[in-house]
Amino acid sequence: MPFPPFSYRDRNLYVEDVELEQIARSAGTPVYVYSATAIAERYRRYDEAFGSTPHEVFYAVKANSNLSILRLLAAEGAGFDIVSGGELYRVLRAGGRPEKVVFSGVGKTREEVEYALSSGIHSFNCESESELTLIDSIASRLGVKARVAIRVNPHVDAQTHPYISTGLRDHKFGIDITAAEDVYSRALQLEHIVAEGVSCHIGSQLLDTAPLKEALDAVLALVGRLRARGVPIRHLDLGGGLGVPYKPDQVEPDVTAHVQDVCARCAGHDLKLMMEPGRSIVGPAGALLSRVLYRKSTESKEFVVVDAAMNDLIRPALYQAYHEIVPLRAHMPGTVVADVVGPVCETGDFFARDREMANVLPGDFIALCTAGAYGFVLASNYNTRPRPAEVLVEGASWKFIRTRETYEDLVRGEE
Ligand code: LLP
Repeated sequence: MPFPPFSYRDRNLYVEDVELEQIARSAGTPVYVYSATAIAERYRRYDEAFGSTPHEVFYAVKANSNLSILRLLAAEGAGFDIVSGGELYRVLRAGGRPEKVVFSGVGKTREEVEYALSSGIHSFNCESESELTLIDSIASRLGVKARVAIRVNPHVDAQTHPYISTGLRDHKFGIDITAAEDVYSRALQLEHIVAEGVSCHIGSQLLDTAPLKEALDAVLALVGRLRARGVPIRHLDLGGGLGVPYKPDQVEPDVTAHVQDVCARCAGHDLKLMMEPGRSIVGPAGALLSRVLYRKSTESKEFVVVDAAMNDLIRPALYQAYHEIVPLRAHMPGTVVADVVGPVCETGDFFARDREMANVLPGDFIALCTAGAYGFVLASNYNTRPRPAEVLVEGASWKFIRTRETYEDLVRGEE
């Protein structure tokens, strides 16, 4: 079954007041479709849960960086969490305000730091001492002060897929929480650095909030120790948001309750709270529509061959991720147990294996659900396939927010 805001009306799949088959037919497939209303509501859920606690919600641009989506979120008052100069460029192009941007990431280049400092971003989430030194020297040359938070690694197991778990000792991220005090002391010596924050991100797609609470308690204890040493910590950046349901039996964690619990734990600490949710704002608000090309069976398997592939949505191939697959017109009788595969020449090019699903036939359209986050942004041109179009729905209307690539686009820049 689809997840809200996608739902059937009279066995036709809709998002908001638009029938998806209408988009699939006129925009062509594969195509990503997003609900503007759902994205705005999901952002507000975070923002409003903080209530009167001083806070800022920085949407994690990496989850979906389409200019129209950034513009929509900027209009809602969102800040932005970026991890590259390219993302900063997108945010500024979309009308995002630089003073509402935080720059995360373990490998910022000199050029990116300079671009961010001269744009006047809010702060850097710093991941190493060498990065601090680099930011200090560039800030000095530009005659500015750089606000930083040091990203600490609290050794908390996020219990998520190993590729998107980031808070353990062996991970490349952050500075060991036990070494952090010394690093802050050295940061105090750097003339163009204002070390006023602590940041922490232990992983993505967390359905259980217990590891986040454990990490928060460790970070709050660190804030106490830092202040005792004279480091004037003013803000706490708690990293990404909560996970979302991909499977029918998964329950969406309650964002409001989680944020309120965070505020309660931080009460009395005189901290501005920051969060960087991505997936939970755009993930459930989007789907990838695709057309069934062929049905094919072998002795042991039934295959549904569709026109989308791993280059369009890599999550199943890369993280063994589950995406619910539903027909746009649920009129066909019965179900089939099949592998849903794309045209790319790799056995890893599948969206589902041995999945019981609607008995779709060539010409039918399907939706791959919960594809609004880490979908299009991870798309590639592998097999020289044009990347899909993107469509934004609002109420009863829809528009392209990115046109499908053409063959000409695919060879641009090549001799
Ligand atoms: N802040 C930092 C420092 C991050 O590394 C991330 C995600 C976020 C915020 C946003 O986290 P979210 O609210 O989306 O959970 N491609 C993978 C997910 C990679 C997540 C990377 N970092 C996937 O498709 O599952």
